Parts: sequence; structure tokens; C-alpha cells
Amino acid sequence: MTVAGHAKDDELGGFSEPPPLYNLVYCSRAAPGVDDAVVARILAASRRNNPRQGITGLLVFGSGIFFQWLEGPRDSVTRLMGHLLRDARHDTIVRLSENEEPRDRVFPDWDMELVGGADIRAVLTDALDEAEDEQNIAALRRLLEQLDTRQIGNGAA
Ligand SMILES: Cc1cc2nc3c(=O)[nH]c(=O)nc-3n(C[C@H](O)[C@H](O)[C@H](O)COP(=O)(O)O)c2cc1C
Repeated sequence: MTVAGHAKDDELGGFSEPPPLYNLVYCSRAAPGVDDAVVARILAASRRNNPRQGITGLLVFGSGIFFQWLEGPRDSVTRLMGHLLRDARHDTIVRLSENEEPRDRVFPDWDMELVGGADIRAVLTDALDEAEDEQNIAALRRLLEQLDTRQIGNGAA
């Protein structure tokens, strides 16, 4: 079924769904010594690499915890996850959710945006306010629930 809001006219005058989008959300523990300068280098690499891989998303760093939302083609995100698993700047990677569906990006304009731990609730709430895609709305509600029950982050920057 095509949900009103992201149906687009195709060349034949019918409607087409957005292409499949793979979404992976994980959190991890920053390695000792990871500070703002290290995170700045991670962001620089992300902004260099992600656009040509079609990856967008959000990186949260607060209280020694990373939380990252990755969305893009499955192959690109899977390849990046291979790098992430070998990256010594974090460990204890926990996959929180993973799916592939024809849907709109939640963060279409962000190559990789850094958000402080204290701001993550506002970012997710804004994204929820703007979301039209039912799956996105459900995923964002789940994340907010996990945040509120402290399954992710701890509310402090
Ligand atoms: C928490 C965390 C998030 C990262 N996110 C990304 C990312 O979104 N994109 C990216 O290319 N590299 C990311 N990296 C860095 C990769 O692990 C890897 O170092 C980088 O892709 C290598 O790129 P380069 O060969 O251009 O230096 C991240 C690393 C960490 C620790």
C-alpha cells in the first residue's frame, strides 16, 4: 500500500514507492581516551565517505556512549558496519534495530550529524513531528521509549 505523503508521480502517471532503505541503529561504548577531538575526526571521515555511499544519519556522543542511526543502501551500510566492528575507538556494539523497507529517510540532509546526549530527545521528537512514513513513526516512537526507559543513553551529555 502506498501511504499518502510519499507517493510520487512516476513517468507513467502512476505512483511509485520510495526505494528500499536499509536502517541500522546501534549503540556502543567509547574506548578510554575518546574525547571531542577524536569524535571530530570520526565526523570528518563520515562526511568524506558517507555522501558517496548514499549514507545519512545521526551520531550521538554523551557520557562515553555512542549511538548511531545509519540509513542508506544495504550494501553501503553493511560495508560501513564491517569497518565499525573493527574500529578500536569503541567496543560493546549493540544492534538496537535493523530493517529494510521502501521508505523515506528520516535524516535526508545529514551526512552524519553529531548530537549531544542531552539533545537527542529533542532531535527524535522533531523527527517524529515531521515523519509521515508509518514505519518511521513507529521506529521513532520505539527509540523514544527506549530512551525514556534508559535502554539507550542516559540522558546526560
Ligand atoms: C562511533 C563511530 C561512528 C563512525 N561512523 C562512521 C560513518 O558514519 N562513516 C564513516 O565513513 N566512518 C565512520 N566511522 C569511522 C570508521 O570506523 C572508519 O574509521 C572510517 O570509515 C575509515 O575511513 P577512511 O578510510 O576514509 O579514514 C565511525 C567510527 C566510530 C567509532
